[in-house]
Amino acid sequence: MRKILVTGGAGFIGSNFVHHLVNHTDDHVTVLDKLTYASTEESLVGLPKDRIHLVVGDIADAATVDPLVAEVDAVVHYAAESHNDNSLSDPLPFLQTNIIGTYTLLEAVRKREKRFHHVSTDEVYGDLELDDPERFTESTPYNPSSPYSSTKAGSDLLVRAWVRSFGVQATISNCSNNYGPWQHVEKFIPRQITEILEGRRPRLYGDGLNVRDWIHTEDHSSAVLTILETGRIGETYLIGADGEKSNVEVVRAINTYLGRDAEDIEWVKDRPGHDLRYAIDSTKLREELGWTPSFQDFEQGIADTIDWYRENQAWWGPHKHETEAKYAAKGH
Ligand code: NAD
Ligand code: TYD
Repeated sequence: MRKILVTGGAGFIGSNFVHHLVNHTDDHVTVLDKLTYASTEESLVGLPKDRIHLVVGDIADAATVDPLVAEVDAVVHYAAESHNDNSLSDPLPFLQTNIIGTYTLLEAVRKREKRFHHVSTDEVYGDLELDDPERFTESTPYNPSSPYSSTKAGSDLLVRAWVRSFGVQATISNCSNNYGPWQHVEKFIPRQITEILEGRRPRLYGDGLNVRDWIHTEDHSSAVLTILETGRIGETYLIGADGEKSNVEVVRAINTYLGRDAEDIEWVKDRPGHDLRYAIDSTKLREELGWTPSFQDFEQGIADTIDWYRENQAWWGPHKHETEAKYAAKGH
């Protein structure tokens, strides 16, 4: 039985990956997670106790990390401070977790000679014009805009340096925006769904024309597992499912599924430095490793996600008030 350490495995994408491993492999999974505001143990409820072990701790703490790395065959690294709006008001935790935390893990896998997969974002490439025919590829130059994306870019470059200088057996993936169950209500799609469920209007930044390239988190998980098992060491793979939508299109889809007027929207202050458009060309991953996404129908994926938030008010409800208070203070 393979043993995998998943950092950030109680967060949105990490917990979905842990569920994916349980459903598609025989792996034993140790989750290392600090359980910040962004996560709860409840994201892992119902999983078999003999296959999942949660350690509450900090990836930047070498004394915690090193013995855990020593026990496993591979590390899949999701843990991060992940929200752009938070990085604009308080960047330091992003430097600490995304840079120092990744460095700490790299030193442990270097010492213990373990396979490492680093999960990153397409936001390291900056943004594209709305009418640019190009999409991001593995050779697009790094050009991050925010404290969040610049710390993720920094962490990617650390991984590349540890591969080249120390022979660490690592791969990197840069994925587009994820949606699906267990996503914190601060993020765009869950925020809009839960605003409406609580009787308020969905809230769009600026003119709502910014474009994100949406992928269901289950497809992200299958791509990461494919790269972990068959990716070439030292390589970067972009993960995307051809899901470009403007923010206003997404809100219209949510409004429509919830039986509301599609145009009933609250227009709010824009985010400083707001990236215009992200778009991924995932040809390398598809042609080299044979991966394909399963969730091609965005309207259906959104409907399933809305149903999940309707049924899991007990999970997100306790975090909603505090999240909206933070947004209100910023005028969003
Ligand atoms: P999230 O905020 O939901 O989860 C992050 C998890 O990391 C949480 O469980 C948190 O408790 C944990 N964590 C934070 N600091 C930690 C620390 N110092 N030590 C241990 N655990 C810590 O984020 P997410 O959206 O699930 O993103 C996960 C990863 O995927 C991140 O690396 C992010 O950059 C990347 N990513 C996210 C998206 C997206 O659309 N959300 C897209 C591409 C890539
Ligand atoms: P977000 O989920 O924060 O992801 P990212 O900034 O990493 O892409 O936001 C997605 C998009 O939605 C982004 O263009 C900002 C926009 N947005 C809104 O229009 N309203 C909101 O309430 C939020 C949270 C985001």
